[in-house]
Amino acid sequence: MGKDREIGFAVVGLGMGIYHADAILEAKGAKLVALCDVDENRLNKAADRYKVKAYKDYNELLRDSEVEVINICTPSGMHVDMAIPAVKANKNIIVEKPVDIKSEKIDMLIETGKNYKVKMGAIFQSRTTPLNKRIKDAIDKGRLGKLIGIHALLPWYREQSYYQGPHGNWKGTWNLDGGGSLMNQGVHTVDLIQWFGGRVKSVFGAFGVFAHDIEAEDKTSAVLKFENGALGTLMTTTCAYPGLSQYILIHGDNGTIAKEEDQLQTWKIKGQNEKEEETEMLNLYGPKEKRGITTASDPMAVGASGHVGIIEDMVKAIIEDREPMITIESAKTRS
Ligand SMILES: NC(=O)c1ccc[n+]([C@@H]2O[C@H](COP(=O)([O-])OP(=O)(O)OC[C@H]3O[C@@H](n4cnc5c(N)ncnc54)[C@H](O)[C@@H]3O)[C@@H](O)[C@H]2O)c1
Repeated sequence: MGKDREIGFAVVGLGMGIYHADAILEAKGAKLVALCDVDENRLNKAADRYKVKAYKDYNELLRDSEVEVINICTPSGMHVDMAIPAVKANKNIIVEKPVDIKSEKIDMLIETGKNYKVKMGAIFQSRTTPLNKRIKDAIDKGRLGKLIGIHALLPWYREQSYYQGPHGNWKGTWNLDGGGSLMNQGVHTVDLIQWFGGRVKSVFGAFGVFAHDIEAEDKTSAVLKFENGALGTLMTTTCAYPGLSQYILIHGDNGTIAKEEDQLQTWKIKGQNEKEEETEMLNLYGPKEKRGITTASDPMAVGASGHVGIIEDMVKAIIEDREPMITIESAKTRS
């Protein structure tokens, strides 16, 4: 892709949005042209660092003709309210997870998008990691046979301070976070198990607030029935000190795969090459060195690497006039 066709990106919301700015700088074919935040401190600091235009008023950003894509990184319950005006201003959009906290609002965005020639993508960076892509491929090719069970644990930890202060107090609320450990931290896992195993048909669950002074929940447990007949379980929490890795186990009538975060634990698929395949997969993706700090305990450990591929994909989607890799439809975590 030549330097002459760089797509102009802007980021609105400069918490997680800072990682978007870094990812845009790294992504081929993308150029960071503007930043937007109502918090002047955050805005001015970031504008100094990246040397780009700074807007306090989102409507002014929408009028900037250099901006072709807006990355929406504001509190979750504001996403669609900011995405629809962007689409109506003919801007392409990349929306942080979750696309919004109400599926009806996501449907409104999908409907609006049909009337404009813009690309609409979402962030679920777990779908871009090599191990997750291999697992998805094995399941799609039917290598595990008939799926029987999909089970996920997210035993994370957040200090009370995470939910406090000007940028913490929307977290764990119903109207801006749409919940707590499930909607905020757990939504990547919700997305991943449905990306692997298909849509969930019914859920029986319970939740509560146990260790934080928040409105919504800091622990959920659910039994899931997938449309394909598989049974599943899901647990999310921000109470499991000091924050342990996400664990996912998938088994079918032809084999089992289990992983801890991005490290493969088990790859056992019946067949003549069972042993060789297991060895190869464990060599590629098995546990290696001890991990440092991860998002299990520190939300800011998320980094920008998973976002670079999604931004490069948006650049290509615009140039090639095709759908982005993670569409808004596919990022809707409820049917
Ligand atoms: N992909 C990931 O792994 C990941 C990780 C963390 C957060 N997120 C998502 O990113 C989003 C933001 O989370 P965060 O932790 O950065 O929150 P945050 O509160 O730190 O940042 C949000 C920013 O939006 C700004 N903002 C609010 N209203 C605005 C408006 N009208 N115009 C312009 N700016 C406005 C706020 O001032 C704030 O700086 C959430 O949806 C969250 O789920 C994703």
